[in-house]
Amino acid sequence: MLETIKQTAEYLRGQIKGEMPRIAIILGTGLGNLVDHITDKQYIPYSQIPNFPISTVEGHSGNLIFGSMSGKRVMAMQGRFHYYEGYDMKQVTFPVRVMKELGIETLFVSNAAGGMNKEFRVGDVMIITDHINLFPENPLRGKNYNELGPRFPAMTEAYDENLIAIADSIAAEKGLRLMHGVYVGTPGPTFETRAEYEYFRVIGGDAVGMSTVPEVIVANHASMKVFGISVITDLGGKEIKEVPSHEEVQKAAIKAQPVVEGLMKEIVGRC
Ligand code: HPA
Repeated sequence: MLETIKQTAEYLRGQIKGEMPRIAIILGTGLGNLVDHITDKQYIPYSQIPNFPISTVEGHSGNLIFGSMSGKRVMAMQGRFHYYEGYDMKQVTFPVRVMKELGIETLFVSNAAGGMNKEFRVGDVMIITDHINLFPENPLRGKNYNELGPRFPAMTEAYDENLIAIADSIAAEKGLRLMHGVYVGTPGPTFETRAEYEYFRVIGGDAVGMSTVPEVIVANHASMKVFGISVITDLGGKEIKEVPSHEEVQKAAIKAQPVVEGLMKEIVGRC
């Protein structure tokens, strides 16, 4: 495992023109257009990167993008690997290992999520303050490499409080409605039953989605700072009659995109 990480990082180092970034962004549903705000872009297709998982989704060509945003060098993942696609947890989180090896210190993640918190509305943007891991496997299961991080890493401050404070002050300045909440990570690909949305709310969740938690666990294992954002694309619970669909999720995520983009750009500039 250590060798494959080093090999991939070595390949990327040979490809990257310009300074190495310290900031990485995983562009989830609802943040794809953030790419438009990256200048001097260099695209490296996942298919060309040694040891990178092979993308299974048709027409979903993934790329690593290197460039500049808000005056900072950044590395962005256009397309992530989801557990529900059939990747194992080591594959899902491999890019985060490579980021660390390349010198990334701060990871920004975004996703679309269903809202259980009764204050939430479709289109709301939620800063992830904490998560509940309901994936059937932890990405750190198996042999621990001390070079990568400790056997039993703490997850009590999985999301950086400084970055959350910066986001809050930006939201206050711009008059944005910015929610805070706990993200429940599930394997998918089913959306929840009404009872499951209710259950996730009762156990302390505000939003639920099918990604992010594996990457955040590995980033914390590797001592990276993490900032996460969810776009609330649908609502779930006992009394919610609407049925979530992929189309609705995408539509709502696209609508919220300008807010998320503005926020991300600003935080990157200030971090
Ligand atoms: N559940 C799980 N994942 C999701 C949802 C949801 O309601 N919305 C967007 N991603």
